Amino acid sequence: MSDQTVKYLLPEDRMPKSWYNIAADLPPMAPVLHPATGQPVGPSDLEPLFPREVILQEVSTEREIEIPEPVRDIYRQWRPAPLFRARRLEKALGTPARIYYKYEGVSPSGSHKPNSAVAQAFYNKEAGVKRLTTETGAGQWGCSLAFAGSLFGLEVNIYMVKVSYQQKPYRRALMETYGARCVASPSVETSAGRAVLEKDPDSRGSLGIAISEAVEMAVQREDTKYALGSVLNHVCLHQTIIGQEAMAQMEMAGDEPDVVIGCAGGGSNFAGIAFPYLGRNLREGTKTRLLAVEPAACPTLTRGRFAYDYGDLAHLTPLSKMYTLGADFMPPGLHAGGLRYHGMSPQVSQARHLGLIEARSYQQLECFEAAVTFARAEGIVPAPESSHAVRAAIDEALRCKAEGKAEVILFNLSGHGHFDMQAYTDFFGGKLEDLTYEDSLLADSLARLPQVSEPA
Ligand SMILES: Cc1ncc(COP(=O)(O)O)c(C=O)c1O
Repeated sequence: MSDQTVKYLLPEDRMPKSWYNIAADLPPMAPVLHPATGQPVGPSDLEPLFPREVILQEVSTEREIEIPEPVRDIYRQWRPAPLFRARRLEKALGTPARIYYKYEGVSPSGSHKPNSAVAQAFYNKEAGVKRLTTETGAGQWGCSLAFAGSLFGLEVNIYMVKVSYQQKPYRRALMETYGARCVASPSVETSAGRAVLEKDPDSRGSLGIAISEAVEMAVQREDTKYALGSVLNHVCLHQTIIGQEAMAQMEMAGDEPDVVIGCAGGGSNFAGIAFPYLGRNLREGTKTRLLAVEPAACPTLTRGRFAYDYGDLAHLTPLSKMYTLGADFMPPGLHAGGLRYHGMSPQVSQARHLGLIEARSYQQLECFEAAVTFARAEGIVPAPESSHAVRAAIDEALRCKAEGKAEVILFNLSGHGHFDMQAYTDFFGGKLEDLTYEDSLLADSLARLPQVSEPA
């Protein structure tokens, strides 16, 4: 009988013991600049925000960074995560392609986000921090940090983008179940929030605003630090356990991916699955295609500019060189709330700028259609963010069908959509519409990018 394996499971003792750091293999990046002086930031500039170990990871060029034993202990609760062969989806599509997906929805909070939340909570606890502040878009990151905070006895305060706070009340309930406090952003608790509300009392919020609020609250108290759920190098680093496990599991399956796909909000789950493959491309000259997928309504990699910009609306964060739509970009209220960010991981941006990865955007209706096709074949309901990767994987499989090619497709199913059923209900009720970001709005917000003279 031919091999009909569906799940490739690594035993716990084969879980990676270190994260893979792409900075060891990626050509050097532009320095991060201080928002006040415009000069490159040093580790001490970041100390009000992050614990020392996290800062060292942010600037490290070591290829492998050990995962501390207490973090691995917690990872074992759900890791190694399964790799599935999507045999029923392949059949439904009638494609000769072989489709695999790495499923991160098995984590306690339902996505890849705890891979970094647990690590960040651990390093903060070790540094004597008592409280963490953060932002959350769809609520996946907030739930993950709330979960991690509960394990390490840290108080967690979360600023949740208002449109998601309203769309997903059960995400807030989950954060509270883990013992965190969740506030709709913009809020009246911070001067950044109050400034936005003064201009627009009905503001739906954005990740850029929520970050400003969380940063403002963190820098006010000695015992408080800030945790970011994506974008930064250390977050991408923590997510690389996904791709490292996937590599071992693809080996078990006896297959090699021709294309590796991930959705991209701030870039961390894409980095997680793609960076180990990108590192191999860079070191060994392999040619695995790497495809980042984003919403047409927030087209950072496909229509943004590679330039210095702030990570937040109030310009409290350092300036990074990245693909950006402009820090005051106000994305439409699409349902993939975790992909509504104006910027992109500087490492993912650098890879895109150098032509080492591809990027593509999709409208939300075609993503929901793909998610429903996937759910009806494979049983798992994807998070709206992850549905972008599903759409791309299905399109690649349909291309293979048209071209009669049996390529191997691997994608990261970054989370389940069990808290997103209102979005599915709206989709079935014909209430969702495609949202395109107008050229004129984009040109306006790009025209307001900070003028930075780049260090030589
Ligand atoms: C399920 C899921 N996938 C993807 C993302 C996008 O974030 P990132 O690009 O950092 O992986 C999010 C963000 O909230 C998410 O919740």
